Amino acid sequence: MYSALYKYVIHGGKPLFGEIEISGAKNAAVGILPAALMVDGVCRIENVPQISDVTLSLDILSALGAEVRLVNKNTVEIDSRHIRNFTVPDDLCRKMRASYYLIGALLGRFGRAQVSMPGGCNLGVRPIDLHIKGFEKLGATVDVMGGFVYATAPESGLRGSTIYMDQVSVGATMNVMMAAAMAKGLTVIENAAKEPHIVDLANFLNTMGAHIMGAGTDVIKVRGVERLHGGTYSIIPDQIEAGTYMACVAAAGGNVLIKNVIPKHMDCITSKLEEMGVEIREDGDNIRVIRKHHLRRTNVKTMPYPGFPTDMQPQITACLALARGTSMVNEGIWDNRYRYVDEFKRMGARIQVDGKVAVVEGVERLSGAPLRACDLRAGAAMVVAGLAAKGTTEIGEIHYIERGYDDLVGKLRGVGAEITLIACPDDDANSASSAG
Ligand code: EPU
Repeated sequence: MYSALYKYVIHGGKPLFGEIEISGAKNAAVGILPAALMVDGVCRIENVPQISDVTLSLDILSALGAEVRLVNKNTVEIDSRHIRNFTVPDDLCRKMRASYYLIGALLGRFGRAQVSMPGGCNLGVRPIDLHIKGFEKLGATVDVMGGFVYATAPESGLRGSTIYMDQVSVGATMNVMMAAAMAKGLTVIENAAKEPHIVDLANFLNTMGAHIMGAGTDVIKVRGVERLHGGTYSIIPDQIEAGTYMACVAAAGGNVLIKNVIPKHMDCITSKLEEMGVEIREDGDNIRVIRKHHLRRTNVKTMPYPGFPTDMQPQITACLALARGTSMVNEGIWDNRYRYVDEFKRMGARIQVDGKVAVVEGVERLSGAPLRACDLRAGAAMVVAGLAAKGTTEIGEIHYIERGYDDLVGKLRGVGAEITLIACPDDDANSASSAG
């Protein structure tokens, strides 16, 4: 993993050809790894992506007393039989949004958790009120004091309940599912999120002995069990990583086989790219992406799954910036997910943002520029734009991108992209663009 002392340098404007293998899903891994704390035994987890959010998650598990053993670069064994610590180190927690899953996992198994308020990408206000309401419905007492969340189950333990989520939330659905997995009786989560990683977490917990039904629909039923046992589980492929590479081909042109995906998970992205004139062929676990002609305009609105994912909004906007005609992008999940637009404008993009809507007037060409990643998917979108742009694009603050992309440089170089990771003095990385 690289710090702010490194940047990506891309010589763009060249089409991509070859194959890219997709890694395990980040947003599944950051839920499943904390869930391993609930298991009274050894979990072997396969297809774990090598990204900094995973490294951080494993550091947190170790700090809590779990024995973590890396079997090979994508397989980890976690033994949580001897956890005695329910306080998650503040410095580690603040670096990652998904640290909130530690509350559900620790509360579910041990009846108590002390976790600092989570960090993560700045996408606008990111409350956890729905998570807290869910835990309270299960009987927990939850206090937020001095930047920490303290959650405690009653002496008799958590009790199943019916929980209606008044907003669809990935994090709250997964967190409540974890806490409920070992509560007494039946929990029903209504208006649950349906993202692929929700199903993956449910499948992981079920493999370890939980009783969760309906994950992937908007009603999830969890019948609590007394104990979860060890087992082996393999994480699903990353929908957003695959979508990002599809966007790279759409923007730069070429013909690339994206390998090891679940094509059904990709439908929301595939159909949008097809509307834009990209040819997409499904072949078992692979998807071939071909872009020969100019991209066409379209409109995009981000929504919970199976709608178009917010985590692909910056990358599709990079493509639309090069499409013929004017497109409208409507961000339906986050308040503040257009911070990258000013960076795109440095490349010659014509985009106007008004609240949650961006009006994107396609241009014939983008030109390379020094940029600075401002969050994970914004950084990924800068790579998409940089690959298509004429000239050299430098991207600083790549630690954001490394939170969620396993070997991005290696995978893109494998399809002929001229992208290099280079060391640069701190000042250089930080002056790549003005703070604006
Ligand atoms: N919300 C609340 N209260 C809550 C929780 C959420 O009002 O207690 C609101 C949020 O403010 C937001 C909406 O509900 O407007 C949806 O938030 P959600 O809880 O679904 O998001 P999240 O769990 O914090 C996960 C992903 C994000 C992804 C969103 C939406 C992880 C670790 N993060 O966040 O991924 O954007 O779901 O799909 O799974 C990324 O990977 O780049 C990323 C940011």
